[in-house]
Amino acid sequence: MTIPDLTDVHPAWLPPEAFRAIGSRRVPVLGDGALVETVREEVAAARARFGGGDRDGGGDGGAAGCVLALAGADGLPGTARAVAAEAGPLGAEGYALARRDGVTTVVAGAPAGLLYGLFHLVRLGEAAFGADRPVERHAPAAARRMLDHWDNIDVHPVMGQVERGYAGGSLFWRDGVLREDLTRVRAYARLLAATGINAVAINNVNVHATEARLLTDRLDEVVAIAAELRPYGIRVHLSIGFASPVTLGGLPTADPLDEDVRRWWAAAAERVYAAVPDFGGFVVKADSEGQPGPFGYGRSHAEGAGVLAAALAPYGGVVHWRAFVYDHRQDWRDRSTDRARAACDHFAPLDGRFADNVILQVKHGPMDFQPREPVSPVIAAMPATKLAVEFQVTQEYTGQQRHVCYLAPMWSEILSFRPWGEDEGGRTVADVAVGGGGLVAVSNAGDDPYWTGHPLAQANLYAFGRLAWDPRLDPAAILDEWAGLTFPETAAGLRGTLHAMMDGSWRTYERYTAPLGVGFMVRPGHHYGPDVDGYEYTPWGTYHFADRDGVGVDRTRATGTGLTGQYPRPWSEVYESAGRCPDELLLFFHHVPYGHVLRSGSTVIQHIYDTHFAGVEEVVAMRAHWDKLDGSGLVDPALHARVAELLAEQQRCAEEWRDQVNTYFFRKSGVPDARGRHIY
Ligand code: GCU
Repeated sequence: MTIPDLTDVHPAWLPPEAFRAIGSRRVPVLGDGALVETVREEVAAARARFGGGDRDGGGDGGAAGCVLALAGADGLPGTARAVAAEAGPLGAEGYALARRDGVTTVVAGAPAGLLYGLFHLVRLGEAAFGADRPVERHAPAAARRMLDHWDNIDVHPVMGQVERGYAGGSLFWRDGVLREDLTRVRAYARLLAATGINAVAINNVNVHATEARLLTDRLDEVVAIAAELRPYGIRVHLSIGFASPVTLGGLPTADPLDEDVRRWWAAAAERVYAAVPDFGGFVVKADSEGQPGPFGYGRSHAEGAGVLAAALAPYGGVVHWRAFVYDHRQDWRDRSTDRARAACDHFAPLDGRFADNVILQVKHGPMDFQPREPVSPVIAAMPATKLAVEFQVTQEYTGQQRHVCYLAPMWSEILSFRPWGEDEGGRTVADVAVGGGGLVAVSNAGDDPYWTGHPLAQANLYAFGRLAWDPRLDPAAILDEWAGLTFPETAAGLRGTLHAMMDGSWRTYERYTAPLGVGFMVRPGHHYGPDVDGYEYTPWGTYHFADRDGVGVDRTRATGTGLTGQYPRPWSEVYESAGRCPDELLLFFHHVPYGHVLRSGSTVIQHIYDTHFAGVEEVVAMRAHWDKLDGSGLVDPALHARVAELLAEQQRCAEEWRDQVNTYFFRKSGVPDARGRHIY
């Protein structure tokens, strides 16, 4: 295996310089296994670059500045043995780190842990080789930390190659075929491993005809991609079409209870595992936005997932069954149907009826990745089901990687939310995910030279992996880590600017877009830029119901759709009451007059005006921070120019949001801005 070293692509958080501390020391790597080989080669490549160990021949004996070892390895030095003994069992992916007597030691119980330990050393840099450190144990919170790619092989006529992709084409396919050179896939795997990701679904959840065949006659492409991801401990998963027994197998039905269908799936899984023994499993979007599913055969989603689970079970594979199921052909005149209720209505009655190797993958909110939503009620409603919480790193509704919008603060807020308040031991969303199916997110990476379109959107990809590893990490600390790695020589000078621009950028984005949790005031189809009524009379179930008197969706039990009743206490009570509901979710749960006084003391209409003016001012300030870096030598000029250009677009777009939203509500309500600012 060779360590990927791409010169035409931005190195993101693994520039060669990040390996200086390791590369300038002699670092014996002790143990066996494929991932230990990866560690050995990483260390060798770093040493070749920075000259570590040349002085003493680079052998594995003698005094070393650092030792990376499996706990059971032959020839383990005394210090490493002591660290291993003190650390105790470290699990399949954990490691322990210590520094004593001038030697830094990383010990792992298994090869994957050693790989993660290596990247921990990279994060620490010189700090790993300073003063003594007591034994620290590290292990991932969740066993599965996954990214879903919404990549197509063919370029879809409407969605393009990567559905909701804002970073160019697919890393895997080009012109309808697998890329010939997959070095970049390996480099991607390396970046992901450095954050802790260990699973990747490679194709779109909307499975079109060509992509469906990855399961059968295009399986060799899955084999090739798996070979690139494997050296970095990442397993491949596939999105499959529920109707595959019909579309690929020629059977007359895909009924999950049909014997031939069961046999077809079993044979398909057997073929996949013969080719990819460490295959992770299937991702399924069924009965959702036009995808086929068990409803078509009068079967439940537990039955639908069951046939796939049975096929994968002999090999230890899992089914990620998505809970994103709702009626996308709703009549906008019908005020009783509520898309936000749909996942819970469909799935809560099935609690306890899913097979053991089924993971129900739930979007974090009840709607669809809006900049502000309450936590999905499904998360508290299915204690007997393994749940994974799904985030969207790709910025579909959060600025499409043209706007700076650091999402870790949002994810962190969701992860630390207590669905039962102080009851149930104060368990958080993170606790549910960690004890169940882990965390999943839609990737924001593509074949763009910066990986993510906007160079600063790299921080979102980095942060998701780190939060999946440890949901308690502080978003600002993650940003520091990312900056330290990405700009190793200048991070100290950049940190202030990056924090000023990014820490609050999600809330800034929220301010200049849709107010108080109402959501979906975007242009239909591509979802970029404002269109207050764009979705108001469509079948998608995404309405704000603004009229001359007020705005918002009544989801109360008393007079509305009853969504509040899907939550346990205290939230069922808090959300039900317009007086107690948090301001930022008021219009998600309530239809209120424009003069309604928020908990902040402002009225709804004045809040709309104030936040929209403030949001734009914050973008202007962000731009000023970035402009000051011009010519400072702190960032590469090309990167500076790319971000500067995108910030200009962000400001233009934010102004458009401000003016359209303010004008719309001024015209509806007739209420002037208390501060007399210009509204059109
Ligand atoms: C959103 C997005 C779709 C995607 C869907 C999903 O609705 O706009 O492109 O397919 O989510 O998560 O399945």
